Amino acid sequence: MALTPKKPDLMEQVTNLAKRRGFVFPSGEIYGGLNGFWDYGPLGVELKNNIKKLWWQSNVRGRDDVVGLDAAIITNPKVWEASGHTEHFKDELVECKNCHRRYRATEKTEKCLACGQTEFTAPQGFNTMFKTYLGSTASEDDIAYLRPETAQGMFVNFRNVLDSSRQKVPFGIAQVGRSFRNEITTGNFIFRDREFEQMELEFFVKPGDDEKWHEYWKKERLGWYLDLGIKKANIRVRDYEASELAHYSKATSDVEYNYPFGGWAELEGIANRTDYDLKRHIEASGKDLTYFNEETKEKFVPYVIEPAAGVERIFVVLMLDAYAEEEDKEGIRSVLRFHPKVAPVKAAIFPLQKDEALVKIARGIYGDLRSLWNVQYDQGGSVGRRYRRQDEIGTPFCITIDFETLTDKKVTIRDRDTMKQDRILISKLKAYLSKTLN
Ligand code: GAP
Repeated sequence: MALTPKKPDLMEQVTNLAKRRGFVFPSGEIYGGLNGFWDYGPLGVELKNNIKKLWWQSNVRGRDDVVGLDAAIITNPKVWEASGHTEHFKDELVECKNCHRRYRATEKTEKCLACGQTEFTAPQGFNTMFKTYLGSTASEDDIAYLRPETAQGMFVNFRNVLDSSRQKVPFGIAQVGRSFRNEITTGNFIFRDREFEQMELEFFVKPGDDEKWHEYWKKERLGWYLDLGIKKANIRVRDYEASELAHYSKATSDVEYNYPFGGWAELEGIANRTDYDLKRHIEASGKDLTYFNEETKEKFVPYVIEPAAGVERIFVVLMLDAYAEEEDKEGIRSVLRFHPKVAPVKAAIFPLQKDEALVKIARGIYGDLRSLWNVQYDQGGSVGRRYRRQDEIGTPFCITIDFETLTDKKVTIRDRDTMKQDRILISKLKAYLSKTLN
């Protein structure tokens, strides 16, 4: 019987599990942590890597009209002036007049959550780019910024990529990398961070074709999430009202998830950025970032459709969506029903007992599978307890080596979701797992 927890509990259950089982830790926890910064443990780093690998495969390697880029986190500060970030990348901030707790203006409540007073300062702009100084003098001339988005790397390298890659419009440049924002308020676990990873694609199109491509990418990106196993009822695409649009955007749609805290909110943004960025960089740098179509002899500044996702948001959504508690013969099991392609551990190998002959075979299988997938070896406690441990971290398969294995060369393979057990030949194990995992 399914007992999946009610929504507010779900967030707590998933946050606890993430810490307890080594997905996510507060950064620098032994010194009290640091707001908006997180460290990813042994399972967290696997899950993150799987998300990034799947995104790259779908958006870059799997297509012939998108190429990759890895730009520096710190770049010439003129980039941020031209892009409008120095001027516009602001959140409205209000402060409690009594205890000075700060809120984003959009999040302000009637009473201060810390002291209960009701008087706040008027909203004022706060630039959320992180500043640093280059070199040793720490003077105003040496100010640089940690990038608040990866997107600008693609715009300022537009000419370089075009000249070196033989791409023709329509085509895209994609990048995965860290971004930094000095968010006024952080929270809801890893939903809003000060350091996070973005996976962004700038898709350059002919002006006039932009609306068609915007629709294309909305469908494509929603499909990607459904392929990861996210439940259809929990995810949707919402088009922005005109009043919500950023200064650079003609139309934006969000892929939204129905989070247990506060309901529908952004998972990924898909913006029509028009020719805003390239034009700003043409004006500011004096360089030619136009596109010349050899066949039609047309010259134009491309429009840009930008699907922009955050790794941490996908991470938390995958965990929330996959988490279930259910009753079985032995009590309640908690299980992460990850799609096998995102699961951090693909299979676990157990010798039934710490018997020398069983351990030898189990270690052999472990070594063999490890060359292909991230797998775990576990010989501690009853097999039932070992199943529970693997269910909780979302491992799709458990493989048990028992005394019959010594004679029939077969192992028991147990499916996480159905809990059904099959006996199969060791020599067929890789093919059996490949069917689901690859
Ligand atoms: N280049 C466009 C851009 O950066 P955005 O909507 O500000 O657009 C894109 O960010 C995605 O990056 C968001 O949908 C979200 O997934 C992620 N993201 C943005 N700010 C974040 C933060 N403070 N913490 C975690 N993820 C964030």
